[in-house]
Amino acid sequence: MRIARDLDSLRREAAALRAAAGGGALALVPTMGALHAGHLALVAAARRAAPVVAVSIFVNPLQFGPHEDLATYPRDEEGDLAKLRGAGCDLVWLPSVEAMYPPGSVTVVEVAGPPAEGFEGAHRPGHFRGVATVCAKLFLQTGAEVALFGEKDWQQLQVVRRMVRDLDLPVRIEPVPTVREADGLALSSRNRFLTAEERARAPLLAASLREAAAALAAGGPAAPVLAEATAALAAAGFAVDYFALVEAESLRPIEALGDRPARLVAAARLGRVRLLDNIGVPPPEGR
Ligand code: PAF
Repeated sequence: MRIARDLDSLRREAAALRAAAGGGALALVPTMGALHAGHLALVAAARRAAPVVAVSIFVNPLQFGPHEDLATYPRDEEGDLAKLRGAGCDLVWLPSVEAMYPPGSVTVVEVAGPPAEGFEGAHRPGHFRGVATVCAKLFLQTGAEVALFGEKDWQQLQVVRRMVRDLDLPVRIEPVPTVREADGLALSSRNRFLTAEERARAPLLAASLREAAAALAAGGPAAPVLAEATAALAAAGFAVDYFALVEAESLRPIEALGDRPARLVAAARLGRVRLLDNIGVPPPEGR
């Protein structure tokens, strides 16, 4: 497994690996490190998608707000590299902040409407500007033909897809289903900060999404279903940022299921951890 820490070596190593693979495509898995089984599922999907697999590890300061957890975001370079070796990754892109954003860099990419508005866009101003900017740079730096993103960050996935379409970037975005613990909790690098007692309660978020999806599938308005789920989570000690039914692609809130694919999206804080989750909602029964 090759490791590149500056752009010249990244391009050299990527070109060598492509040549060794007979000119084959490169699949990129963008990450912020602290890798878990969810990331490794992305790497496995990348392996199936292209002969050359690259993983980027970069805790992107541009996507953290001034009061967010940039300083304490988990970092484990040695552990990450060991996991990636075991997962069959060919190339790791490990830029420093200076390599990613050389002094004087001022250009950003902004998805200036849906799906970036609302939800994470509202709760974390500037977050998607940071995500779009770094993803555009990662796609251009690696020349990836395909990039893999987890459905766990559903809004992020839609924002990246929108950016790729709007900027005609020559990369295909492939979604990968959320990986969950046996009790339903979606894997996240930040779960390690849950206390044992919070960890025991955390699966309630996924359970509430599943129950709400089942209730909505029976037909009827979303508002009472969403209000009930929010109240149940609040009663269990979650500080709910949102629990909403949205059009799956635009993230526009909807009042009931219709003909277009829909998604329930939720974010709630439990102690110092902000949990994010979502679930697809099939059309109402009998439709
Ligand atoms: O989902 C993440 O880990 C990050 O937002 C990403 C896509 C690697 C961009 O920094």
